[in-house]
Amino acid sequence: MSVFTENFLWGGAVAANQCEGAWNVDGKGVSTSDVCTGGSHTKSKRITRTMEPDTFYPSREAIDFYHRYKEDIALFAEMGFKVFRFSIAWARIFPTGMEAEPNEAGLEFYDKVINECLKYNIEPLVTISHYEMPFALTEKYNGWSSRECIDFYVKYAKTLFNRYKGKVKYWLTFNEINAGTMPMGNFLSLGILNEGTTDFNNQVDVPILRFQGLHHQFVASALAVKAGHEIDPQCKIGCMIAHMTTYPLTCNPDDVLKAQQQNQISNLLCGDVHVRGEYPHFMKRYFKENNLEIKMEPGDEAILKEGCVDFYTFSYYMSNCATAKADASISSGNIMGGAKNPYLEASDWGWQIDPKGLRYTLNELYGRYRIPLMVVENGLGAYDTIEEDGTIHDDYRIDYLRKHIVQMGEAIEDGVELMGYTPWGCIDLVSASTGEMAKRYGFIYVEKYDDGSGDLSRRKKKSFDWYQKVIETNGAAL
Ligand code: BG6
Repeated sequence: MSVFTENFLWGGAVAANQCEGAWNVDGKGVSTSDVCTGGSHTKSKRITRTMEPDTFYPSREAIDFYHRYKEDIALFAEMGFKVFRFSIAWARIFPTGMEAEPNEAGLEFYDKVINECLKYNIEPLVTISHYEMPFALTEKYNGWSSRECIDFYVKYAKTLFNRYKGKVKYWLTFNEINAGTMPMGNFLSLGILNEGTTDFNNQVDVPILRFQGLHHQFVASALAVKAGHEIDPQCKIGCMIAHMTTYPLTCNPDDVLKAQQQNQISNLLCGDVHVRGEYPHFMKRYFKENNLEIKMEPGDEAILKEGCVDFYTFSYYMSNCATAKADASISSGNIMGGAKNPYLEASDWGWQIDPKGLRYTLNELYGRYRIPLMVVENGLGAYDTIEEDGTIHDDYRIDYLRKHIVQMGEAIEDGVELMGYTPWGCIDLVSASTGEMAKRYGFIYVEKYDDGSGDLSRRKKKSFDWYQKVIETNGAAL
């Protein structure tokens, strides 16, 4: 018997800049992701203001979803997807972000993608901004550090709501908006490129610009939520947070406090603004002690209150520990690392695997916000091998996903309202943190490699059949 609701949204997730390719096709402008070179687990990606002719930029072709979306969506349908989470490339719609009118060819591409989903009764779940923006906004305004971006974003969001009204029911305003609370989020999430930055992993950080940029994103998100509800009262608009579940490394009260403080800034700040429509109590002190004077305009507080989200979504890959001790051993992670947890194993990229942490997180979040939740990213980045007979036995991936689904079931039994589950990179794509193809998440293998070679053909992994069964039995057969 299944504990998942009858209409539970099983599916998968991708992002435009990591799968579409076609970076300069049909009027698309250069986006921030187009100027990031390839990298690896041990070598940082670079950000190049000017194009280097002999350098490999992985997002430019990616897995060519732009030309293969039909084949890919057919495979998702074969797995039984009820929902497909993808993002729209802002620079396809407004090439520099500053145009008065949108690029029709860009809008048409997403008409086709959305229609293809609907043909198979797959609900599109659209992220309006997923780790990219027109690079022209970085060059002219240093990204979200400038208030001008609010109007550009709202114009873009309204264009999407009007165009896809009645077809897209579920929207997310910003992917992992809380990346802006961390230095890595500068360029990745805020389009901020400070003088002197070349390495993605070691960006020149000016905290006030980041927190000011985050404030601008909060206002933009709230205005978009309000406009979206006016344009299409049936649609549901959510937030998206990279949930960095953090435990105290020990029961030493110093570690416990450290973990609480980390959780407040990296997770709760953004969730609270989106769901409750106001900055949480602890930010006053944080801003003061860090000399951060955020400029807010008189109407901003009211805007935040009027633009609260309908549902809360998050990515969950791993958990970390916090300690007050300076010499703890460190593990890596998505966006943020932390102290190593001696009870957990880690992926080849050092991300600590913690399925029970997902149940814990779901309970924490539901207890705090009491609105529907959705896990919109989860998965194991791993090296896959093609056997001589062409098969791929990714039992490690099945094992990871199975254990997380079991814990989602437990959370539902705990009373959590969970809408759906879209594992990350349901088809192999470019890694956001390292720019690699070798770090694969998919149920579908794509023949594309880190030197740019590969014929882009698709093949099913063992996990494809497994996930198909999971969906078919509504999570009963794991
Ligand atoms: C999330 C992002 O942080 O993690 C995705 O929203 C990203 O864009 C995913 O791809 C996995 O991270 P990575 O670095 O392994 O691609």
